[in-house]
Amino acid sequence: MFGLLLTGSLYAAFSPAQAGQAESDEALVAKGRDIFIVGCSTCHGLNGEGINSSRDGKILGPSLIGVGAAAVDFQVGTGRMPLAQPGSQAQRKPPVYTPDEVEALAAYVASLGVGPAIPDESDYSIAGLSEQEREEAIVRGGQIFLTNCTACHNFEGSGGAMPRGGYAPKIRGVDPKYIYEAMLTGPQAMDTFSNGNLSPEEKRDVIAYLQSLEDQPSYSGFGLGGMGPVSEGLFAWLFGIGLCVAFAVWIAAHTTRSSKSKVEA
Ligand code: HEC
Ligand code: HEC
Repeated sequence: MFGLLLTGSLYAAFSPAQAGQAESDEALVAKGRDIFIVGCSTCHGLNGEGINSSRDGKILGPSLIGVGAAAVDFQVGTGRMPLAQPGSQAQRKPPVYTPDEVEALAAYVASLGVGPAIPDESDYSIAGLSEQEREEAIVRGGQIFLTNCTACHNFEGSGGAMPRGGYAPKIRGVDPKYIYEAMLTGPQAMDTFSNGNLSPEEKRDVIAYLQSLEDQPSYSGFGLGGMGPVSEGLFAWLFGIGLCVAFAVWIAAHTTRSSKSKVEA
């Protein structure tokens, strides 16, 4: 009897809160759907199913079923979506929607199918680590970055060209949340680094490494944009040694002997 009463009253105490929660979720999804129909459905379809008619061989808008809230938060939060002009690579630009609207859009797209959720700050923040743990994270992150990301984003994350007129953007100074989401969702030509590929800790380490680049001074005066050891060495050879040779020639041309020989001639 007591057990029944207890469970009954506990249920009564907790269920309204749950119902309220569900309701506000539904309201958020509904709000997101309204924004979606106005701003996104022309390319992604009225129900996010995608529109396959092609322009220049590229589809108007892919299906968003199962891309998850993280993809929306990344694409809309970095201003890539809504895309202004289909066919070209989505550019990073000031976001069109407020954070509240992005949240609603993300909730709506997440309701279409299961996909990666927006990461929590505890997933990528290194604030809670001790000094030594932080150093270790940076070293590990640097190794992961060198093997997985430099091919496209270059050694210092300053970006690079990609096939078919595309480019990998500079990833210095990007909000850690968007770095995490980019790895998680693999926007456009970028590979997807799902949590099976790169665990959440490894993603956090990469972010720690990228942040450590921010406060690294350029020791030799001016940086060459981290083109890599070979090209930087070549630069030093051609311009550094080239300058020395030019200087030596200049000195040789201005000695007393050379001016004397000119006078004699
Ligand atoms: C002009 C057409 C257009 C509009 C408008 C547009 N999109 Fe897109 N969207 C695209 C195209 C094209 C891609 C694929 C980009 C690529 O992969 O090259 C895309 C990709 C995406 C992706 C990434 C999907 C993935 O697989 O990770 C998301 C998320 C997204 N759009 C959300 C939105 C939202 C939300 C809006 C409205 C605010 C919107 N889009 C408006 C054309 C559009
Ligand atoms: C195959 C090439 C490729 C690889 C490998 C790659 N990326 Fe990218 N990355 C891209 C491209 C292309 C974009 C631009 C996508 C877009 O504009 O939608 C991008 C975008 C990003 C962005 C978004 C930058 C911004 O301005 O919002 C971040 C952050 C990022 N990449 C991080 C990484 C990290 C970290 C790795 C390694 C774990 C990695 N990328 C590996 C090609 C690549």
